[in-house]
Parts: sequence; structure tokens; C-alpha cells
Amino acid sequence: MTKPVTPAQPLPKIGFLYLDHVLRFFDKSNFKGWPDPIESVTYHWGNDKARFIREVKQKGIQVLIGNVPATAYETFRDIARQLPGVRFVPSLDTQFANKSKENVTHFCRKHDLPIPTTHIFYEKDEALDFLQSTSYPKIIKKSYGPSNYGGYFVHKVDSFKEAQALIGQKKYYPVYVQEFVPMAADIRVMLVGHKPICAFWRRPPAGHWLTNTSQGGSMDYLDVPKEALDIAVRASQAAQAEYWACDIALGTDGRFRILECATAFAAFPYVRDWIGQYIMWMLAEDTFKKPYIPLFNWEELGKIRSSLLRTMRHITFGEYTPSYDCADSLAGVSREQYPLLPVELRDGEEWPSEYWNFQDNYTPQTLSRPIPDLHLEHQEIGLEDAQQDDTDILQAPQVSYSKAQLEAFLAGIKGVGPKMITDIFTTLGVEGLSLALTQDPEQLMQVKNLREKKRDLIVSHWGEFTGQTQHFAPA
Ligand SMILES: Nc1ncnc2c1ncn2[C@@H]1O[C@H](COP(=O)(O)OP(=O)(O)O)[C@@H](O)[C@H]1O
Ligand SMILES: [Mg+2]
Repeated sequence: MTKPVTPAQPLPKIGFLYLDHVLRFFDKSNFKGWPDPIESVTYHWGNDKARFIREVKQKGIQVLIGNVPATAYETFRDIARQLPGVRFVPSLDTQFANKSKENVTHFCRKHDLPIPTTHIFYEKDEALDFLQSTSYPKIIKKSYGPSNYGGYFVHKVDSFKEAQALIGQKKYYPVYVQEFVPMAADIRVMLVGHKPICAFWRRPPAGHWLTNTSQGGSMDYLDVPKEALDIAVRASQAAQAEYWACDIALGTDGRFRILECATAFAAFPYVRDWIGQYIMWMLAEDTFKKPYIPLFNWEELGKIRSSLLRTMRHITFGEYTPSYDCADSLAGVSREQYPLLPVELRDGEEWPSEYWNFQDNYTPQTLSRPIPDLHLEHQEIGLEDAQQDDTDILQAPQVSYSKAQLEAFLAGIKGVGPKMITDIFTTLGVEGLSLALTQDPEQLMQVKNLREKKRDLIVSHWGEFTGQTQHFAPA
């Protein structure tokens, strides 16, 4: 039982930002102990801006919490402008890097964060000129778009001929070219309030260069180097991020470089609980306790089977008191090295779209004279796209399952009827259901009439169905 809280001051009215067909990062259970009702507002895609804004105003929401998927990013920059009295958590500036790899590059360059040398071209001819005279191997990636996951749109090219064939075939826009960094492994760091709260290695399968665990790589939590944590903290601070994840490559040259960073990432439910507790404290310091999250907790939690970690909730730790024989002082590590900090609010916009939305603004004359209304690559948002997009930059389904496979699986569970199966597909879609089953069973709770017992039933059947052979983890 949680004690009811009596706020020292009236609390701000908070609401969740949801989008149709997009997996939800937060729900009320992540904000355990918040005494007031929490609103939610759902964006329905298409032409829904004005209605969305009206609903936020009608509900009197002061703080709107949630991730915006890449394909809705520009729309929400506009919405945020039209709601100047509403605080978006994370802010749209913080979510700038969620939109595209190009934006990650701009963000890291501006804030002096290490990245692989990168070239971005809006003119195919300029791209070809560059590719003709550069050295190889190179990496070419899709910068923006749905289904941006799992290394699927990341290509290694060994010659100009290969590069030319690739960009002819893929038509990526812009053309995003990166030096190929030979690497031992990369490191995923997750942060809350600029404090690393989880970190692990992602190692490629033998003889391969892709480290995405969805491509068969492995993960472990041991001895994550401090330098990687420091870079992740700097990035989180530069983004003013309430929560944040960073993928950092460790090159065989011993240097660290950021590959991806975003507020949208695959997170175990307990991580989302910690974020919720942090946001509550940040919004009402006098009423809520600052969550205590020990540094290197992941080395201990990482020993727990990940199928269990996927369902564990509300993990709390006792306050740490050092003792004389404490191992930390011997190791010279200070537990307060990475304090949990509030984010500082900025005035004005850091990444106004009139300038930074090159994808839509680019005209051949010059990058510095954008024409806002020229849509070079207008994308219709399909249901599947939207779904995949929330899994966004840092998340990947382990394996994709076909609708037929998933239907067969569900139909085989005693207690799950045809009506529920239909509801599951309508609510989550094929991709969403795959993600729910492989990474995030909590998503099943969105389905009408599906309660905890049924969720657990489905999850346990899933374990049998797949033989639990996969190594479950955020990919
Ligand atoms: N410049 C690079 N050099 C070598 N390997 C890379 C490079 N960029 C990406 N990779 C590999 O490809 C994987 C996927 O790339 P990433 O940029 O994370 O795209 P995504 O995860 O969206 O597919 C990385 O985890 C890493 O293993
Ligand atoms: Mg990646």
C-alpha cells in the first residue's frame, strides 16, 4: 500500500501524450503515488493538430508527458508552439535527436560530442562526387523514416561502385555517409536525470560488424567503462533530457563515438517506473522523494533472467551508507559521481524547424534559405509505419512474426477467444504484438478487457511457444 500523499502545493495537471497505433512508453502505473487523476490525449494522425490542441486546453493540462515518434516530430514542434503554456516532457528540443540520424549528427556536432565523421548530402550529384574521391569502406544509412531499426538500413560499402549502386537502388534522402569504425562492441547507456541507471555492452556475433542484438549479437552488463558513461551524461545534459539513451561505439582504436541517442528507446518496465518517479519529484520537489538509484545497479540486476526483468516493477533501493571496509573507497569510486539532477528549463527554441528541418526545407539554391512549405518527400503515415516508428531509433523487435504465426499462437491458448484475438490485432497490430511479446508485455494491457491474468497467461504461453531460446533484452 502506498501512503496517500498530501501535496505541499497544488500539483500541476499532467497528461500523457499518446498517438494511435504507437506503443505507449508510459502509463499511470509508472506514476505510482501521483494523487491526482492523470489525463491522456491521443493524436489520431492525419489532420488532427487543431483538435489535439483543443483537447489539451480543454483538459487544462500543464505538463504533457511522452515520446513523439519521428514521423510526427515536425507536427509536434508546431503543436508545442501553439501551446506555449504547456510543458512538454521531454521538450521538443530534447526530442530533436529522435527524428533522424541527421539530427543526431547536428546535435552532437553542436555540443561537441564525439561521433564518426559524417557527411550528409541533399544533392545526389554532390554525394556521388564525394563518394568517388573518398576512401573505403564507408557506412551508408537511411537517416529518417519508419522501420528505422535493427541495422536493417545500415550498409557497409567497400568501393565507389558499391556505393553508387546502393544509393541508386535505395534512394535514401538525404544521403548519409559515415566513416566505417571498426569496433569491438558498443554500449547502450540509459539515463534518468543525467544519471546513468542502466548500461550494457552489445557485442556483434563472431565475424560480424553489426552489434544490434536483433541481428544475433549478445549483451552483458560487466565493467562498462566510465568514459562511455561520461559521454552519455554529457549528451543527456546537452539535450536537457529528463530521460535519455545513448549508443556508444568503442572502436578498435580505443576511442568512443556516439552512434545513436534519443528519448525513445526500449526500456524495461522498471526503468519507466524510475523515470515516472523522477518526473514526479521534478514537478513537485516538496511533495515527492527523489528516487534513489544506485550507480552500477545494472551489474546486480543484470544477473536476473531478462524474461523476469521484463515484468519486474517498482524496484526500489535503500539509501546507501558507506562503511569502513567499503569496497568503493578501495576502488576509488564515488557513488555520488553521477548525481540525479533536475533538468534546467530553457527559454526559446534551440532547434527551430524553419532552420533545422532540412528534409522539408531544402532547396537546391542554398541550405541557409529554406522554403518551409516545400515538401520534397511527403510521407503518408501508414498504420504499420506509425507502429514501428515508436519503437524508433533504439528499439528493435527480436524476430518478426507473421500475422498467421501470431494468430496461430493466440488461438492455441485456452482462455483467449476469437473476439480477444481480433481486439489484440486492432489495438497493437502485428508489429506491436511482436514487440509486446518479445520485449514489453505491458503493452498488452492496452487491449480492451485484457487484464493482468490474461497478460500473464499469454506471456507464459509465449515462453513455451518460443522455447525461451532467445536472449530477451531491449535490442
Ligand atoms: N559508422 C559505423 N561504423 C561501423 N559500424 C557501424 C557504424 N554505424 C553503425 N554501425 C553498426 O550498425 C549498427 C546499427 O547502426 P545504427 O546507426 O545504430 O542504426 P539502427 O540501429 O537505427 O539500425 C550499430 O549498432 C553498429 O553495430
Ligand atoms: Mg542502433
